[in-house]
Amino acid sequence: MPVDGPVPWPCAEHTGAKHDIYRRYLERWFPILLAGSNAYPSVTYAEGFAGPGIYSGGEPGSPVIAIRALVDKVPATKGIARFVFIDDDQRCVDMLRKTLQEAFPDRPRSEVAMPVTMGKGTCADDLEAALDRMDAWGQPIFANLDSWGNAPVPFRLLKRLAANVSTEVIVTLLPQHFVRFVSNLGEAGDDVFGGDPRWRDVVNLPPAAKSRHILTCYRQALQAAGFPYLLDFELVPRNGQPLYLVFGTGHHLGVQKMKDSLWEVDRVQGVGFRDPRDEQAETLFAMDEPLLGPLTRLLQQRLRDSEPVRVEDLRQFALFETVYRPEHVIKALKPLIDAGSVKIEDGGPLRRASFVSLVHAPLR
Ligand SMILES: C[S@@+](CC[C@H](N)C(=O)[O-])C[C@H]1O[C@@H](n2cnc3c(N)ncnc32)[C@H](O)[C@@H]1O
Repeated sequence: MPVDGPVPWPCAEHTGAKHDIYRRYLERWFPILLAGSNAYPSVTYAEGFAGPGIYSGGEPGSPVIAIRALVDKVPATKGIARFVFIDDDQRCVDMLRKTLQEAFPDRPRSEVAMPVTMGKGTCADDLEAALDRMDAWGQPIFANLDSWGNAPVPFRLLKRLAANVSTEVIVTLLPQHFVRFVSNLGEAGDDVFGGDPRWRDVVNLPPAAKSRHILTCYRQALQAAGFPYLLDFELVPRNGQPLYLVFGTGHHLGVQKMKDSLWEVDRVQGVGFRDPRDEQAETLFAMDEPLLGPLTRLLQQRLRDSEPVRVEDLRQFALFETVYRPEHVIKALKPLIDAGSVKIEDGGPLRRASFVSLVHAPLR
């Protein structure tokens, strides 16, 4: 949406799918952290690009979705949940205040059990200070950094979030923004990528490789910020630009839960998913019968130039390095074994304990 465009604006195709993922994840996150066996006294949900909380068709925005996930899944007596919403457009802030009052006319939790703060400001200049004022540090934070895709999020903030206890981020990126504006962004763009200028190599790449390069660089930046576990994927609408989401966490359980949320997303949205690492950029639309071609290719890449690998390790690879689930691995290996391009080392049936390797065609 343009800077001076109307507020609110229509809910784009991939926004529905994105919201479905947020909701499914937060409905897991709040109860685990506030009511689970190792619950914390408090958590914070923060948005650096909050929006007005509503779309022109009446669909709820992410702030409403987040508060509803808490209220629906955690008893009001359990812990403290803070909410911080920053947006640089005063119209969004005003509308968000009104939308939250209308969505939750009776405060679902007391002021102490659910403090909510919102204000006009930029994510870069104001989110960290708002978290300071809320006394959020030292307890888990979920930071939703859902910009228009240019991700003006200071690397310093990402590093501080990564160093905070049980803290996670989800960042929205439109790779096309960086492909298109590479010459204008220059060094200002470097900070988005953790100060690493290699993202600018995009100018020398063929068109098909450009987006993938930007995505790889962003993934590396989140890792460099200190998030050891990542899940990144593209949401691909039938029409329009794909949107890239990168989730970073310090705990492998976070990746599992986010992946569950991704695979459960309402198919009615008509939005597909894509693994950014798949060279053929194949989109998965029908997730009930998962299309395993991209995973088969990724497994082939993984096995290339390596010693035999245990299937269990390939399951971990699928969990942490692709959009697929561990249980997809054996199915994705089958066509390779049937075609004779992968062999099982002990010759037995394919099991989690089996070792597999690529069969290299003899040189002629
Ligand atoms: C994609 S929308 C957010 C949508 C919202 N997260 C949702 O899902 O309902 C991006 C928002 O970021 C705001 N914005 C743009 N640049 C910003 C910046 N540098 N700092 C803070 N907010 C910004 C825009 O006004 C807009 O409301």
